[in-house]
Amino acid sequence: MEKSTVNNFKYTKIIRIWLIIGLIMLIGQVVIGGITRLTGSGLSITKWDIITGVIPPLNVEDWENEFELYKETPQFHKINSTFTLQDFKFIYFWEYFHRLWVRSLGFVFLIPFIIFAVKKQLDFYLIKRLGIVILLTILTASAGWIMVQSGLVNRPWVNAYKLTIHFTLAVLVVWAMVKTVSDVYLLGSKSLIPSKKIVSYVIGIAFVQMIVAGVMAGMRAGLYYPTWPDMNGEFVPGVLLNSTNWDWHNMINYDSYLFAPALIQFTHRMLAYMLAVGTIYLFFKLRYAVEEASKKWLNSTLILVWVQILLGILTVLNVEGKIPLFFGVSHQLIGLLYFMGLLFLYDSLRKQKA
Ligand code: HEM
Repeated sequence: MEKSTVNNFKYTKIIRIWLIIGLIMLIGQVVIGGITRLTGSGLSITKWDIITGVIPPLNVEDWENEFELYKETPQFHKINSTFTLQDFKFIYFWEYFHRLWVRSLGFVFLIPFIIFAVKKQLDFYLIKRLGIVILLTILTASAGWIMVQSGLVNRPWVNAYKLTIHFTLAVLVVWAMVKTVSDVYLLGSKSLIPSKKIVSYVIGIAFVQMIVAGVMAGMRAGLYYPTWPDMNGEFVPGVLLNSTNWDWHNMINYDSYLFAPALIQFTHRMLAYMLAVGTIYLFFKLRYAVEEASKKWLNSTLILVWVQILLGILTVLNVEGKIPLFFGVSHQLIGLLYFMGLLFLYDSLRKQKA
């Protein structure tokens, strides 16, 4: 059932391109977020000024002031106390770029949105859809700030669960945007496919996997078990087999005992294997039943799930005291693309208007 009528408007082409640019910029935002986290840059800017924060430090004095503020953080005291101004400038750059990108995204999104709406080029359905995207983006940015604040007191890292909320909201923004794009591009089949439900089950598992992945990144759980296919010599880590360890305190104080990182990494691996099986099943079940519109998504998700698992394995195998930047960021990007592929696949299975 098609709801958007944007295809009948004067600026249809421009609106279509604009939405794709928005989607690509969103993916870029997630990637830059990954680089920011893995270079340890996320806590370098200790203030949040929506307007004045656009201007970076421009002279030596400004830089010194920013550096002084950073020197008051637990991260500087506990981890980076030997940092020079030059080192600080590097981590500052990534956090600054991360914030600048989201501001640009705001402009690229909001200004055309207002213009198109005033010119009556958006129907009510599209205004509602884009309104959800904008609202979720604001929530993601606010959760990002709450997350940063959690790393400015006592612990030198942001809280894993707050990072997960920030990341999950970012995934929801992408989800809302994918839905909008596929409605506007009418990515549908001519006939209705009866087996849509099984795609939604795989999407459900993939969404849980994205949440667990956020916790995985936030706890830096990859560092504790840098082996594969086993986890430090065991298939199920021994710490999980001791029932006395199944205690909330171990989940809350995740960086003082091995239990939580073990549980999260084990769960992440098991969900990955389930997704591999689920995606292969989808492929064999649907490949002859679906039309061309869906086939490309079916093929893409099958390839992406394998690439993603390989990247996950390479990420853990290349751990040397920290998560390897290239594999970590690629794994985050491909994970998002795989998830988007499943969403597009689902949307392509609905009946298109004749
Ligand atoms: C379909 C399967 C998989 C999906 C969809 C997936 C997804 C993700 C995503 C999106 C992240 C980034 C989370 C964030 O930055 O907030 C992540 C992190 C991670 N994943 Fe996976 N993953 C999968 C399989 C695996 C496998 C098989 C392994 C290893 C055995 C693995 C190891 C890791 C590690 C170590 C991290 C943390 C990296 C970091 O701190 O940046 N993943 N995963």
